[in-house]
Amino acid sequence: MLRHRSTIALLRHRSTIALLRHRSTIALLRHRSTPAAARLSAVGVLHLHYDVTMPSGRGEIVRVIAVTNQKGGVAKTTSVINGGAALAELERRVLVVDLDPQLSATRWLAGPLDTRGLFDVLTGGEAPELVEQVVATPVEGMDLIPGSRFLTGVERAVSGQWTGPESLLRRAVDELPEDRWDVVLLDCPPTLGLVAVSALVAAREVLVPVEARVMALDGLVSLLQTLQQVREGTLNTDLGPAMILPVRVDRTRLARDVVDTLGDRLGEMLLTTRIRDSIRVAEAPSRHLAITQYASGSSGAEDYRALAAELITRVEVAA
Ligand SMILES: Nc1ncnc2c1ncn2[C@@H]1O[C@H](COP(=O)(O)OP(=O)(O)OP(=O)(O)O)[C@@H](O)[C@H]1O
Ligand SMILES: [Mg+2]
Repeated sequence: MLRHRSTIALLRHRSTIALLRHRSTIALLRHRSTPAAARLSAVGVLHLHYDVTMPSGRGEIVRVIAVTNQKGGVAKTTSVINGGAALAELERRVLVVDLDPQLSATRWLAGPLDTRGLFDVLTGGEAPELVEQVVATPVEGMDLIPGSRFLTGVERAVSGQWTGPESLLRRAVDELPEDRWDVVLLDCPPTLGLVAVSALVAAREVLVPVEARVMALDGLVSLLQTLQQVREGTLNTDLGPAMILPVRVDRTRLARDVVDTLGDRLGEMLLTTRIRDSIRVAEAPSRHLAITQYASGSSGAEDYRALAAELITRVEVAA
């Protein structure tokens, strides 16, 4: 368990608390005027909490990747499940956490299951530990923590709470057994509210699927600003650079232009993997299978295997 190490880290760092609080204040003042800061404040994120600045003590082996984009329908869930299944094929043990009240990942992998466990974790209620909420899935090597339709009410439930609600998920993730999974994939909802920010605080890496269609850059800029706020506001100084994944890439000139523009603007942040448009990928959820099982020889399976290989190289997902 990671709890023991966290406690040691807490004791070791108690003397630096005052300094960290001071730095948080400076960071807050410096960024209060930016739109991203205003948004974070609006969802109650920019509190001055020294507890979120604590090193997690999380083992370096377990990679926690938030899959996020506030734009809806851009293949976040599709990438979590198919990318996760492709990682599982490469013998990485994967845990998917469904943070979306739409329950898309849960329905895909486990059918009509609805629990309130994650709601209680995110609101600091009496919650079973995350590990007790894990269910098996039809994908070998991939487990799931189901979502909850109650997640829509998280912000209301924590409003006025003085402790840092955005760090509750991170603490729960830190309690996961170190030796059971190699990678944790957080499937975020299509908003930049408290749940998505909690995922950014809990994660070490961020994967951002972006549709290869016009205007893809608009929302991306504000998401990148938010990531920067999370890092600079000391909510999660460990958060790595975004990994941008072009999805639904078809043969049109427009798609090529969008991907080229992303490359020009994002440099290293743009992954080399491209996920092509594929009917088979669109069909897989209704069969409750990942693309690697449903159509193992399809272009979609090939693309998600390429993603898994690239993620392993980029973020060193150890087996
Ligand atoms: N490569 C692809 N080819 C064809 N269809 C795709 C592809 N990727 C995703 N889709 C389809 O696009 C739709 C949206 O995908 P998905 O649910 O994964 O997006 P999302 O970002 O998780 O959405 P939300 O924001 O609502 O959570 C789904 O119907 C899915 O099957
Ligand atoms: Mg989704």
